[in-house]
Amino acid sequence: MSGGLRLILLGPPGAGKGTQAKRLQERFGIAQISTGDMLRAQVAAGTPIGKQAKAIMEAGQLVPDEIIIAMLDERLDQPDCRKGFILDGFPRTVPQAEALDKLLQKKGLALDAVIELAVDDAALTERLVGRFSCAKCGANYHERFHPPRVPGVCDVCGSTEFVRRADDNRETVTARLEAYHRQTEPILPYYRAQGRFYSVDGMADIDVVSREIEAVLHECCPEKLD
Ligand code: AP5
Repeated sequence: MSGGLRLILLGPPGAGKGTQAKRLQERFGIAQISTGDMLRAQVAAGTPIGKQAKAIMEAGQLVPDEIIIAMLDERLDQPDCRKGFILDGFPRTVPQAEALDKLLQKKGLALDAVIELAVDDAALTERLVGRFSCAKCGANYHERFHPPRVPGVCDVCGSTEFVRRADDNRETVTARLEAYHRQTEPILPYYRAQGRFYSVDGMADIDVVSREIEAVLHECCPEKLD
């Protein structure tokens, strides 16, 4: 097996997967693979996949497994994944989890940990409808929980332009949460049965969650943290 930290971050929409994945990417120099970001890039570029995914995403439903699995297969072969990766928003169905096992086996890779961020549904809607990000560098913010240090100015790049996601409105968030409970939650027992499964309290402050994730990594794979 080749080296590098290989993780899955699981959790409902708004659990903090993207926030924590970006921190792990910076901290350990590993690739953040967000299937949501990849799909949004396809939508923005107007590709055939983007055209098919747009309406599905705006309705808060899941994009078909075969599209996602093919996208991920290709992504895992990119050079930035050699040092390791964090899967953020994938897998989201049992067939995706099974396909991932097969892909990793084919590529001679193994997962170090599957980490669930556990958050109450009630907190998620507030997190998502208050979320925005920098239009230039993509840094993530929240009106209440994580505002820029200087109001209206991005902490990271100084830009004053911000954007909100099309699916971060109350109606779509409700559909996204339903899809999570119906289609994604069944993968939790799948990974629990495999071992290497950890659950972290995603209701805690962002910094506390980061520390808990790092504690998990010290427990599961200390040799990969140097
Ligand atoms: P995707 O982009 O993956 O969205 P999601 O899973 O709904 O997750 P989010 O990005 O909304 O939330 P997050 O957990 O990353 O939270 P964040 O860190 O931003 O998917 C979008 C769509 O694409 C899907 O609906 C589907 O259609 C399609 N899709 C994607 N992958 C797919 C797949 N594998 N299969 C099929 N379809 C797929 O945090 C949220 C907010 O809360 C932020 O403002 C943040 O600042 C704040 N926050 C974070 N942590 C905390 C904390 N601890 N306390 C307080 N506030 C916090």
